[in-house]
Amino acid sequence: KRVVAFISGGGSNMLALAKAAAAPDFPAEIVAVFSDKAEAGGLEKAAALGIPTRAFPRRDFSGKEAHEAAILAALDAHAPDLICLAGYMRLLSAAFIARYEGRILNIHPALLPLFPGLDTHQRAIDAGMRIAGCTVHFVTEGMDEGPSIVQAAVPVRPDDTAGTLAARVLTVEHRSYPLALRLVAEGRVRMEGGRAVADGPL
Ligand code: GRF
Repeated sequence: KRVVAFISGGGSNMLALAKAAAAPDFPAEIVAVFSDKAEAGGLEKAAALGIPTRAFPRRDFSGKEAHEAAILAALDAHAPDLICLAGYMRLLSAAFIARYEGRILNIHPALLPLFPGLDTHQRAIDAGMRIAGCTVHFVTEGMDEGPSIVQAAVPVRPDDTAGTLAARVLTVEHRSYPLALRLVAEGRVRMEGGRAVADGPL
């Protein structure tokens, strides 16, 4: 399966996907990395791996529609089967999502449906959670609302800060996303009727 990854920052999740996809038996390849920020650190890391990259600075476009139109046109050229949002900090429009219905994945640094949105680690600490984690899910119109594919939990320690918890969650993010991409690329999990459906044992 052909995958285009979208990043906005360091791209550590994109790198984890690219490294996993380098394995000969992996059922997907990262054919390009797109970013809404020309300065995203992940673009250089992707280029260093020989992956084509493209930046779409939001300020270069008159509005969200023009921005997404340019991205969609560039996507068509790569003919991706799947899109993996990996630290991509922009919401996609319903029209964009409809173009790739059931074929856009995202990773969120919390155990959805708990803590959708931003500052998830501080919110988990403030709420007195004893576990935290990440969720890889299909992207639907609502923010962080699509059906979950893979989740992983980590302990929250009493002396945790948002930073120490984020680092612990990142380690399981980098295992969860490649697993989720494998499951979807192999057709073992798909989105059907708004739910993530598995054919057999995962
Ligand atoms: C990660 O916590 C990810 O879950 C969130 O953005 C953070 C940075 O991701 N979406 P990355 O290092 O840019 O992949």
